[in-house]
Amino acid sequence: MKTKVLVTREVFDEVLEYLSQYFDVTSNPSDVPLDPETLAAKLSDKQGALITLSDRIDAPLLSRCPNLRAVCNIAVGYNNVDLEACRKARVMATNTPGVLDDTTGDFTWVLILATARRLTEAEAHLRNGQWEGWKLKQFLGLDVHHATLGIFGLGRIGQVVARRAVGFEMKIIYHDVRRVPPKIEQACRATFVAKEELLGQADIVTIHVPYSSAAHHLIGKQELERMKPTAILINASRGGIVDDVALIEALRKGTIAGAGLDVFENEPKLNPGFLELKNVVLAPHIASSSKATRLKMAMLAAENLVAALTGGSPPNLLDPF
Ligand code: 8YV
Repeated sequence: MKTKVLVTREVFDEVLEYLSQYFDVTSNPSDVPLDPETLAAKLSDKQGALITLSDRIDAPLLSRCPNLRAVCNIAVGYNNVDLEACRKARVMATNTPGVLDDTTGDFTWVLILATARRLTEAEAHLRNGQWEGWKLKQFLGLDVHHATLGIFGLGRIGQVVARRAVGFEMKIIYHDVRRVPPKIEQACRATFVAKEELLGQADIVTIHVPYSSAAHHLIGKQELERMKPTAILINASRGGIVDDVALIEALRKGTIAGAGLDVFENEPKLNPGFLELKNVVLAPHIASSSKATRLKMAMLAAENLVAALTGGSPPNLLDPF
């Protein structure tokens, strides 16, 4: 009998074809996220799964899946997976680091430029038929060139963002839980500073840290108040790292000038406060969404699954036990 696997969301045909060479594959072509009960029921007789951020893998679910040996996330972030529970249940968990760095870094620049130059606000004005003609003081934005870029998290994606900033002749400062090696600082032309210094000096604050309980509300009311009133905040990392309620309040009051966001608390239930604001650029968690990159992510997750269930060593095993 063939090993049984579940693909919880719609994926590319080539991914299903590849998996079908090894496994008896059940997939969810409707692409509606599975609620916890349905996910547990569908996984109960499977040995492995290709999952996404919409699937929560935790102890109650694992207790209902006695045959499960591997869960392979189509994402670099894995806060949807309880690694401790996986270790206890002897279930391998993997992610997809590396393949999305450039694409996510590019999209961070989409958000930086669109927010600094107020593009969505200006486009809405135009689309709504409100444009009466050129005005000297129309949609005055923030210059990105020669500005100070403050990066929280100089990991793989943070480094891509820094390298792109060199072309804009920016001053680059960063903060991280620990300093990166001098070689990386030099390549990124980035200077390590304390969190408070970064918040106070940066014209553009951009976040590239993974979500963890320690990173929960890394940016809240206090941090926003430390930022310059002319500064903008960019988040293409994970919802929950920024306190959305505090951010909405800060954008309303003009504590900061604007924000560019790809991720939110309680996705996809966006806090309606964001929709009333003009000084925010909003995207539905698409930073890694180029055709080539999403295919690479799904294929890498599939390769992890094949390795895990055929006695190999998954290239992106998160927590060897
Ligand atoms: C994914 C992401 O598309 O990789 C990540 O961590 O945030 C995105 O690139 C998303 O998580 C889908 O599971």
